[in-house]
Amino acid sequence: MSADKTEQSRPVVLTGDRTTGPLHLGHYVGSLKNRVALQETHEQFLLLADAQALTDNAHDPEKVRRNVMEVALDYLAVGVDPEKSAICVQSLLPALAELSMLYLNFVTVARLERNPTVKEEIRLRGFERDIPAGFLCYPVAQAADITAFRATVVPVGEDQAPMIEQSNEIVRRVNRQAGREVLPECRALIPAVGRLPGIDGKAKMSKSQGNAIALSASPEEISRAVKRMYTDPSHLRASDPGTVEGNVVFAYLDAFDEDKALVAELKAHYRRGGLGDMALKRRLEEILQALLGPVRERRAALAKDPGYVLGVLKAGTEQARERTQKTLEDVRAALGLFRL
Ligand code: TRP
Repeated sequence: MSADKTEQSRPVVLTGDRTTGPLHLGHYVGSLKNRVALQETHEQFLLLADAQALTDNAHDPEKVRRNVMEVALDYLAVGVDPEKSAICVQSLLPALAELSMLYLNFVTVARLERNPTVKEEIRLRGFERDIPAGFLCYPVAQAADITAFRATVVPVGEDQAPMIEQSNEIVRRVNRQAGREVLPECRALIPAVGRLPGIDGKAKMSKSQGNAIALSASPEEISRAVKRMYTDPSHLRASDPGTVEGNVVFAYLDAFDEDKALVAELKAHYRRGGLGDMALKRRLEEILQALLGPVRERRAALAKDPGYVLGVLKAGTEQARERTQKTLEDVRAALGLFRL
């Protein structure tokens, strides 16, 4: 990325993903698609959040390490352009850890325990009172991620909205303490489509729930997933009237079918009766195969050239290191920390 004036005045986008497994269609509609568009108009940094991944995977650092490459491949395969977006590795950016330590003093444990996303994740993981402290505090580390890049736009799924709120709270407290606006606040960019349900109809697509379609899924995996997809359990015969609400196939058609008029027609037909699940699923499968085919091919080609991918990560991390180090210096100075 060139460092001339026009580039520097572009608003900054920062987002990231935990490196716990390959990304899936939920990530695609939730934020990858936005990122591919944003790199044309913004200065964009993408964080491979391996340090955050450790907050609930300390027992399996090997998985976290291995998936740094996998997520990087997913980014490049869906069209993230390393000439336009810097892809960087979180744990190789020490300024993020230092900022986290400073910010921890501007948030209470009670506030962290009230964070709705953390609360829900604690419930899902069954942590109860045995919460790793790093996990409870990850919203603070995420505030460090966002502010270290001076990001003002953060494309995330709607489940991450409370993180953005908490980040802005920390920003206001640091700024108040500093007596000036050392850090900018940011806004979440949440996709209009909302979250994609899992193929089983459960609220959220997630690899750990086994209800996801990976971006790298094989044609057979896509086909199997569509066949298994939850529809309307009382729609037994094609001639029966069916329900569209809560029907996963329609949720996916809404998210991926460009022909909105046809989707509206299919919905009306399904409600009326006379449209079978098989026919409906055939349409969805075609669309998903067409979307993921080229992604899978690009991914396979890139996976054969790990040297290239490592080069991309090295350059992106280098660029990120410079940026984040500068913000750390600003915050240290604004808080009036000791200097030698
Ligand atoms: N918490 C995000 C997720 O689970 C990943 C993430 C880490 C992130 N750091 C970030 C997102 C900074 C946005 C900004 O997907």
